[in-house]
Amino acid sequence: MDFGMKNRLSRIFRPKTGKTVMLAVDHGYFQGPTSGLKDLKKTVTPLLPHTDCLYITRGMLRTCIDPNTDTPVCLRVSGGPSILGDLSHEDITTSIEEALRLNAAGIGMSIFVGAKNEDRTISNLGRLINDAERYGMPVLAITAVGKEMGRDTRYLGLACRIAAEIGAHMVKTYYCEDFHKVVEACPVPIVIAGGKKLPEMEALQMTENAIKEGASGVDMGRNIFQSDNPVGMIKAVRAIVHKGATVKEAFEIYSKK
Ligand code: 5RP
Repeated sequence: MDFGMKNRLSRIFRPKTGKTVMLAVDHGYFQGPTSGLKDLKKTVTPLLPHTDCLYITRGMLRTCIDPNTDTPVCLRVSGGPSILGDLSHEDITTSIEEALRLNAAGIGMSIFVGAKNEDRTISNLGRLINDAERYGMPVLAITAVGKEMGRDTRYLGLACRIAAEIGAHMVKTYYCEDFHKVVEACPVPIVIAGGKKLPEMEALQMTENAIKEGASGVDMGRNIFQSDNPVGMIKAVRAIVHKGATVKEAFEIYSKK
């Protein structure tokens, strides 16, 4: 691996623990003004100091994030359809030059394994990685889960492995039963998305389970920014990911206002 690629990855995964707490705030790229992100700047600003890497679109980065921040950024570079259409019609929306101009530490896109346009999204991932490799830019592949797609070990294992085979440098997927089997079959780091908002204790339990079963961190959104104490919640998630805190200890951190 060249210096550029290694250096960017070290800005995403903290070298001390090899893990990351990414904050995902890209939901608007297909959902519009998502609950908790209507005023993205207001929501994200207090969370930034506790975030290892911010996962965001270029439009929100330019308009809502202070360029003086020292929190690295991973850019969502795919999009196209909205929640009103077929989400698997995604294409690449942001070029590699734009990611370099914005000083991104990484870029990410979704693949829709099992959906109508799975082949198109997987080919797009291959093309994106071809471009990204040229500049030492790590690519995060996200295994989207649509209505017709599963969330079990077999499905997520299939999708994560395909992403790694195509050359993704890291993969984002969902936690599932026997998650360790998904991790074991995927040779690149896996981070978990949080999914729909859960009670805080459940979200922290899911985080602990995922880390114990081999996840390299989280790229979590709604379970942090929709919490009644977002700063407490991200600190609690950090304690589990980086310090091996128990769910009980993490919940106490979350509860401190
Ligand atoms: C949507 C995404 C989101 O970034 C991802 O779902 C993480 O957010 P959440 O924890 O709210 O699920 O990639 O495709």
